[in-house]
Amino acid sequence: KPQSPLASAAWTRSKPPLLRFLNDCLTEFSAETSGAVADYIPELSKADPAYFGISLATLDGHVYEVGDSRVPFTIQSMSKPFVFALALDMLGAARVESAIGVEPSGDPFNSIRLNAENHPFNPMVNAGAIACTGLIQESKGEAAFEEIRKALGRFAGRELDVDEAVYTSESQTGDRNRAIAYLLRTNAVIKDNVAAVLDVYFRQCAVLVTARDIAVMAATLANRGVNPVTGEQVMTPYAISRTLSVMTSSGMYDYAGEWIYRIGIPAKSGVGGGILAALPARLGLGSYSPRLDKHGNSVRGIKVCEALSSHYDLHML
Ligand code: DON
Repeated sequence: KPQSPLASAAWTRSKPPLLRFLNDCLTEFSAETSGAVADYIPELSKADPAYFGISLATLDGHVYEVGDSRVPFTIQSMSKPFVFALALDMLGAARVESAIGVEPSGDPFNSIRLNAENHPFNPMVNAGAIACTGLIQESKGEAAFEEIRKALGRFAGRELDVDEAVYTSESQTGDRNRAIAYLLRTNAVIKDNVAAVLDVYFRQCAVLVTARDIAVMAATLANRGVNPVTGEQVMTPYAISRTLSVMTSSGMYDYAGEWIYRIGIPAKSGVGGGILAALPARLGLGSYSPRLDKHGNSVRGIKVCEALSSHYDLHML
């Protein structure tokens, strides 16, 4: 594959339009070098800021990929929607909703603020995600992480591993999440073993994925829980619809309103540099570029989603 597809008319002409579009995004947005690689988890700061991969999966199981779409990176907060869906199916909506709200907080992802009931605002911010993992840990005990890893793997269509270095790094430095978890326990959202819950949460955030995996996982959300590549019904349509709802209102944290206004596609970001976007009944997109803006969202990933939304007129409203 030539470095610059635009320089190679033959390559450009011979590829399907969608692949050409993704490649044009890659070329154009590679020039964007603003933002900073996350460093509050020390191991994440080692990521090469030049990495840039994009993948798009359609609901007939076609997966398009350009750039560094097979470079592994940690899923981080993009795990949150899937773990929320898992909790809904495993424990029932009533139990999950009794512990975690579904209102956007307007706060940064790591905010320690809880809602008026002293519960997390929603399952997309750290407090809500830790609570969600806590519910699964309470029910499954030591098997909790394996349940989560397997579920993420069913969304991706392959077994996923953990980046032990990132896990250890976050576990050694994650005092803010520890503070949030203890606050949740004083409010009886987490029942007992705070350390065990955080261990599962840090591991879940350190699961390794590629932009391609994220595209397939997003397409599974867009496809009412049926993985379009493997054909497996991974979660119930109910859990998927509620998950997409909270992604729509809160997936991009304190940028969520602006995001849904401008781009109009349910999405979730991760501080590893990933963005997952799932347009119901249409497609799933995964992008990887580690430089983040002040909200913790990948700068280039946002550009890709903006371009996708406007180029194909995909704003859902
Ligand atoms: O808990 C944390 O801070 C990280 N493991 C995940 C945060 C994250 O990905 C925020 N998203 N952009």
